[in-house]
Amino acid sequence: MTFQATILTLFPEAFPGLLGHSVVGRALQNGLWALKVVNIRDYAPDKHRTVDDTPYGGGAGMVLKPEVVAAALRGTRNQELETKPYVVYLGPAGKRFTQADARRLAALQCPLVLLCGHYEGIDERVLETDVDEVLSIGDYVLSGGEVAAQVVLDATVRLLPGVLGAESSLHEESFDLIDPETKKTLVEYPHYTRPAVWEGQAVPAVLQGGNHAEIAKWRLEQARLRTAKLK
Ligand code: ADE
Repeated sequence: MTFQATILTLFPEAFPGLLGHSVVGRALQNGLWALKVVNIRDYAPDKHRTVDDTPYGGGAGMVLKPEVVAAALRGTRNQELETKPYVVYLGPAGKRFTQADARRLAALQCPLVLLCGHYEGIDERVLETDVDEVLSIGDYVLSGGEVAAQVVLDATVRLLPGVLGAESSLHEESFDLIDPETKKTLVEYPHYTRPAVWEGQAVPAVLQGGNHAEIAKWRLEQARLRTAKLK
């Protein structure tokens, strides 16, 4: 089954953006996942194609109207998707997106819909009725959900079977490296390539020797040191 992602946005021209490049872009071209982009504005009922309105209670900014967002979500659902999709709204008030969430989304057995907000946000009622989960990519406020949607999809799609060439590169990098003793997640160890000495800095000797057990031990130590420094 091909992984199906649908983006609902006011800025459809922002896609595929970075998702059209590198491994994720190649996977898109090769049909390992499919991307559909829906312009929320196409679901505005009036001739001015109005999508937002002023907030109840006052304050700055505009709020996306619930009936427009609902029509976009439900229109996509009814016309294009056979199975009920999993709907995620990208917003700063959501649960912080992690590698575990990427794994969970990559394992979905239904289409994934990512709803991007703009202005001050989306009327809360449509989030209650039509959205399964709210995800934030970090504790800062972006001007819209598009960058966040690309982050979430990039992290998710690269975990799909066949997207990364070597299976091993999945298990040996940041957030997928597990400490064999504590079972805790470690960040990545440092990487080097030729030349052996660059601007006076030498590649650690252990990596230049061919002792794989020693190399594995050194990498684990380095990953532990880096992880400890972060916390
Ligand atoms: N939209 C605005 N800010 C965001 C954030 N931090 N994460 C996800 N979506 C957002």
